[in-house]
Amino acid sequence: MRLLVTGGAGFIGSNFIHYWLKNHPADEVVNFDCLTYAGHKESLRDVENNPRYHFIQGDVTDEKAVYAAIQAIDMVVHFAAESHVDRSIIDPEIFVKTNVLGTSVLLNAALKHKIQRFHHISTDEVFGHLGPNDAPFNEESNYRPRTPYAASKASADMLVRSFFETYNLPVTITNCANNFGPWCDPEKLIPRFITNLLDNQKVPLMGKGENIRPWLYVEDHCRAIALVLEKGIIGETYCVSGQEETNLNVTKKILAQLGKDKSMIEYVEHRLGHDFRYALDSSKIQALGWKPEYSFDEWLTKTVEWYKQNEWWWRPLKQGRPVVDRIAQKQY
Ligand SMILES: NC(=O)c1ccc[n+]([C@@H]2O[C@H](COP(=O)([O-])OP(=O)(O)OC[C@H]3O[C@@H](n4cnc5c(N)ncnc54)[C@H](O)[C@@H]3O)[C@@H](O)[C@H]2O)c1
Repeated sequence: MRLLVTGGAGFIGSNFIHYWLKNHPADEVVNFDCLTYAGHKESLRDVENNPRYHFIQGDVTDEKAVYAAIQAIDMVVHFAAESHVDRSIIDPEIFVKTNVLGTSVLLNAALKHKIQRFHHISTDEVFGHLGPNDAPFNEESNYRPRTPYAASKASADMLVRSFFETYNLPVTITNCANNFGPWCDPEKLIPRFITNLLDNQKVPLMGKGENIRPWLYVEDHCRAIALVLEKGIIGETYCVSGQEETNLNVTKKILAQLGKDKSMIEYVEHRLGHDFRYALDSSKIQALGWKPEYSFDEWLTKTVEWYKQNEWWWRPLKQGRPVVDRIAQKQY
C-alpha cells in the first residue's frame, strides 16, 4: 500500500507518519507538504533515510503538483490545513484557500485517479460550542462553526461528503478533539505553556481559564485514523474524543510538572468569539474497537519531558515569531 499523507510535516501528520511506518512495514508513505510556518521537516529527521518514506514539497491548492503526486497512490490521508484559530481571526482567507480549495483539488485528483480511500482529518470545532451541561456532540450533530478556522474545516467536510454522495468517492472522515504530544508547534497552548515555563516566562491564560477542551494524546488519534482506514464504513464520519479539562486545570498541571506556581499565570483577554466548551461522544468509533490507551495526566507528563529533551526542535521555532493571540484579541 502506498499512502499520500498531506500536511505530514505538521504536528499530527508527522506523528501519523511515524506511527504508520512503524506499524505497517510493507507500506510506503509519501508526505506532501508545502512547509508553511507550521511544517517542519525536522520532525521526520529519523525517517528521512527510510526507503519507504518520500517527501514532496508541494501545495494542495496546486492542481498540477497534486495530480503528479497522486500517481501510484492507493490511499490519501488528508491533514494539510491552516490549523490555528487565532491566525484565522487575523487572516481568514488563507484558511479558505488551503482548507477548502486545497481539499477540493485533492478530492478531484482522488476521483480522477480512482483512489481506494480518501480519509479526511477534521475537528470537533465544526460543531460549534457547548454549555457546561450540554450533551456532547456526535456524528449527527448539526454543524455550527463559530470561527473562520472551524467554518473552513466545516466547508471542507461538506465537500468530502458531497464527493461520496455525488461521485461515490470512497471517503471517510474523523472529527477529533484537541491533540497533544511531541512535535506540536510551540504556538499551540500546551507546548507554548511548557516552553514558556522552561524559559521562566509567564503563560498567557485567556479569561479565567474556564474554557473546556477534550484532550487526546496524538498517538491515540493516529490509532483511530488507522482503525477507520481498516474498518471504517465508506461515507461515514467518526468522532474521536479525549479527556475534558478546563484550560486552568491543564495550566496547573503543567505548572506543577515544572515546579512553578500560579504567579506564572498571566490572565489575558479571550480571543474574539472564544468557544466555551467542546465535547464529543466517541461511541461510534468505540464500536469499531477504538478506545484511548494513553491517560491525560501520564502523557502530559511525558509530553513535558519530551519538550525538555528536544529544545533543538522547538527553540528555533519560537524565535522571531509574532504573538498571534494578542492580535486576535484586539483585531476589531
Ligand atoms: N491539532 C489539533 O489539536 C487538531 C485537532 C483536530 C483536528 N485537527 C486537524 O488535523 C489536521 C492537522 O493538524 P495539525 O495540528 O497537525 O496542523 P499543523 O498546523 O501542525 O500542520 C499543518 C501542516 O499542513 C501543511 N500545509 C499547510 N498548508 C498547506 C498547503 N497549502 N499545501 C500543503 N501543505 C500545507 C503545513 O506545512 C503543516 O505541515 C488539520 O486538518 C487540523 O484541522 C487538528
